[in-house]
Amino acid sequence: MGGTLIVEDLHSSVEGKEILRGVNLTVKPGEFHVVMGPNGSGKSTLALTIAGHPKYEVTGGRIVFKGRDVTKMPPHERAKLGIFLAFQQPHEVEGVRIMEFLQQVLAELKGMDGAEAYDLIIRTAKDMWFREEDLYRPINVGFSGGERKRLELLQAVLIKPDLLILDEPDSGVDVDSMSLISRKIEQLNEEGTSVILITHYGRILKHLEPEDIKVHVMKDGRIVMTRGGEFIDEIERRGFQDIFKDCCGGD
Ligand SMILES: Nc1ncnc2c1ncn2[C@@H]1O[C@H](COP(=O)(O)OP(=O)(O)O)[C@@H](O)[C@H]1O
Ligand SMILES: [Mg+2]
Repeated sequence: MGGTLIVEDLHSSVEGKEILRGVNLTVKPGEFHVVMGPNGSGKSTLALTIAGHPKYEVTGGRIVFKGRDVTKMPPHERAKLGIFLAFQQPHEVEGVRIMEFLQQVLAELKGMDGAEAYDLIIRTAKDMWFREEDLYRPINVGFSGGERKRLELLQAVLIKPDLLILDEPDSGVDVDSMSLISRKIEQLNEEGTSVILITHYGRILKHLEPEDIKVHVMKDGRIVMTRGGEFIDEIERRGFQDIFKDCCGGD
């Protein structure tokens, strides 16, 4: 369990356009990091580049996890190493039922056999408000935003990754689901999972102590500020444009 993530002077491009322009970030085992920043500042790109999404080309710097340079490693191998990314817009996968999919994931990442995985999935899903018949629906097809987010979290809870990256798990989610989701994220973290949480709403973190959180703010493809959890309230109060006056001349 555990393992440090080191992101070093990371540059990443999409379709020839440079989006990340030198990101530095170190996440030690069990740490809780929050990434905030205006729309378009590169938060999702950072998450997807760490996870190894093929669309994002690393043009400089490197990503090290558990002492291994994973910069060029395919996404499924990064997942095997313990990196899990819950996507901002989970895809619809036609023809694959949730149960089969989760069983496959648990076989691949945890070496679990079908029956063992089945029991675990049924138990965990119930705890996260899924009815058994939901598990026989095709993945994400006809799911509401909140259901998709819960399904992502269900995956994370089943896998218990060493590093969990969440891209706006709070978007499009009702208050009840949001509180379930934040409780599950906090639980995973208490059990040792390192977390990188991209969010616009610091209030998703109800039960974490501010001193246990590191807050990063991104601007134009870089992390320009890093502070403790108390920074979240200040950001919500002042807004990014005002905050940027403290670091970057306010442009
Ligand atoms: N597939 C893409 N093709 C072209 N530009 C993209 C693509 N994905 C992201 N971008 C651009 O990269 C920048 C950063 O996007 P993103 O990482 O999604 O920001 P954030 O998540 O902080 O809102 C934006 O200017 C966005 O338009
Ligand atoms: Mg985004």
